[in-house]
Amino acid sequence: MSRREEILAEMGLSPVWVLRNKPSPAKSEMPSGWIELKQAVPACKACGLHASRTQTVFGVGDENADWLLIGEAPGADEDRLGDPFVGQAGKLLDNMLAAIGLNRRENVYIANVLKCRPPGNRNPEPDEVAKCTPFLQQQIGLIQPKLIVTYHPAACLRNPAYKRPVWEDMQLLAREYMSA
Ligand code: URA
Repeated sequence: MSRREEILAEMGLSPVWVLRNKPSPAKSEMPSGWIELKQAVPACKACGLHASRTQTVFGVGDENADWLLIGEAPGADEDRLGDPFVGQAGKLLDNMLAAIGLNRRENVYIANVLKCRPPGNRNPEPDEVAKCTPFLQQQIGLIQPKLIVTYHPAACLRNPAYKRPVWEDMQLLAREYMSA
């Protein structure tokens, strides 16, 4: 597995590439801006997850951010509070951002592949990823970030060896994108 594939798999994004030939909604059906997108996500019933969610978790941060962090899906805390990365992994992420003088609302945007919590925190099903991915693609198109990549903070909690490459990515961000 290449490093790129490893990173995508860690972020839970690899099924996207398997399914990329599946039809996504026609352009005319897609929300065209933030306002439309923020209405479309909470109204979505495209997959079964809408039935068990408390609320959708849209994403949070600077809508003109240089850096986009993408998680897999909301967990119990996120489902309850409506914001991504508010549990243990989120605390680590916030600490790492703080270490380079950022916070989750400044030059960073945080979103998930899925906007609804899979029950029991199970892995997302490929069809759920396929149905939800157009929302993430819209977010990417609106934010136009310069950088989307690092290991998932939950991977750092499971295996502290991931902390170094994540910290190196943070430093790269600080060096390359925060000097202007
Ligand atoms: N919290 C999120 O919002 N997403 C994840 O992938 C993990 C925790």
